[in-house]
Amino acid sequence: METTLVLCKPDALHRGLVGRILSRFEEKGFQLVGLKLMTMSRELAAKHYAEHVGKGFYEGLVAFMTASPLVAMAVRGPQAVGTIRKMMGKTFGLDAEPGTLRGDFGCSKSFNLLHGSDSPENAARELALFFPEGVQAWTPAGAAWLWDAPGGA
Ligand code: RTP
Ligand code: MG
Repeated sequence: METTLVLCKPDALHRGLVGRILSRFEEKGFQLVGLKLMTMSRELAAKHYAEHVGKGFYEGLVAFMTASPLVAMAVRGPQAVGTIRKMMGKTFGLDAEPGTLRGDFGCSKSFNLLHGSDSPENAARELALFFPEGVQAWTPAGAAWLWDAPGGA
């Protein structure tokens, strides 16, 4: 079981798409274990996007991400990190396949609706940045039907 960080970026809030994005992960069978409305500071952006500091698009990215509130989610499920990246699609909507979130909901080359951690290691690092208090563990009532039990029981 993996937990990953999803950010509904400021454009998702302005466009009223947060509920639909969250629904896709719930419908898939993933579990919400953290949820927070917050405005990203420049300092948090520099930590979160450390790999991009100094790149040509970095200042524009920070201006976008800090412009207004975003919604941070911790999402848990089997292979959640890679599966959510697949559900998001390629970075920008015009390149992303129809059927993916970015492919269905966007066509901007700047504003791309959401972030998802790209590896289990980055998920752990990013969850610690956005949910330093930890996430909320709970067992879905339908867990036995959602997730395969070890040994096929
Ligand atoms: P993210 O980190 O937000 O989940 O997106 P990603 O993995 O698909 O893309 P990444 O390469 O990590 O880039 C991070 C964010 O920077 C912006 N970006 N702009 N103008 C550009 O060439 C450019 N490249 C990247 C996007 O907002 C992207 O999501
Ligand atoms: Mg990335």
